[in-house]
Amino acid sequence: MSILITGGAGFIGSHAAVELLKDGYEIVVLDNLSNSKIESVNRVKELTGTEFPFFDIDLLDIQSLDEIFLKEKITAVMHFAGLKAVGESVELPLLYYNNNVTGTLNLIEVMKKYDVKNLVFSSSATVYGNPNQVPISESFPLSATNPYGKTKLMIEEILQDLYVSDDSWRISILRYFNPVGAHESGRIGENPLGTPNNLMPYITQVAIGNREELQVFGDDYNTEDGTGVRDYIHVVDLVKGHIKALSYLEENEGIETFNLGTGTGYSVLDLVNNFKEVSKKDIPYKVVDKRPGDIGICYADTEKAEKLLGWQAEKTLLQMCQDSWKWQVENPEGY
Ligand code: WQD
Repeated sequence: MSILITGGAGFIGSHAAVELLKDGYEIVVLDNLSNSKIESVNRVKELTGTEFPFFDIDLLDIQSLDEIFLKEKITAVMHFAGLKAVGESVELPLLYYNNNVTGTLNLIEVMKKYDVKNLVFSSSATVYGNPNQVPISESFPLSATNPYGKTKLMIEEILQDLYVSDDSWRISILRYFNPVGAHESGRIGENPLGTPNNLMPYITQVAIGNREELQVFGDDYNTEDGTGVRDYIHVVDLVKGHIKALSYLEENEGIETFNLGTGTGYSVLDLVNNFKEVSKKDIPYKVVDKRPGDIGICYADTEKAEKLLGWQAEKTLLQMCQDSWKWQVENPEGY
């Protein structure tokens, strides 16, 4: 009786694998390794002392996906697999629609065929577009301004329609805010290939000397110090929210959407200053133009997840910086 983790070699997926195994679940991991390394799977096995099946499969290969369900006793799916770079999605929209949407449709088709109807889906706060106010609650209007965000929105709508057509599905849609940090061991972490799009891995690469300076995208937002404010959440808190959502599905029918954030916003310079305190490293930066598509302030209303899932993020921004730094120091070139 296993949980299938799609994208299980990735940043969030590998941390989910560790926590699921720690909680006594059996898992099966699937990943096409297009944006991740098999080493992360090896490290999960090392950290947990547990063997589990790994399949180097693309969700676009529906025949191979079918064979996994035929071979393994899958009872639920945590679906992380997907491309997630906003800028890249603008340049390569068809790649994103095919990979993220068609891949998910294949997954749902095979799940339906094998009567596996418990699904935890990795969505993103990006579906809120540029909200008029904060904190952001699940009932806020949805919009997406880039193909990546549109794929998340489309998949959410597909899942809603799927449930209307067949209410035996049990679905949790989890909207992530900004996942950062790493497992406390420093053995698994965020391993962006090429130049990091996201703030935390860019900071850690500056701190370790792999990058000259951080570019701060704008300092004239309507925030305390003018730099962008986001709801950074430790990846271990995030995956614990997934396990709570999985348990929720076991007890509750229906489809529900939850914000997974801390409910607190921090600016770019807050993150830089906390990181400097933790790493004792200088983080040279230069303020440059705003990044197209960026919003000023984004942080979560976390009440629904607290009430229905009994989940709340616990780790502080300092712990997020400590764990990100430990991962980077112990893995200067990533996996
Ligand atoms: C955070 C803040 C930037 C880099 C994106 C996706 C979202 C999710 C998380 C997948 C912003 C500023 C950043 C840099 C900077 N991805 N920044 N210099 O844009 O909030 O969210 O990643 O699910 O869907 O949209 O995260 O880390 O890129 O930016 O100043 O080199 O840091 O302007 O204010 P973002 P981010």
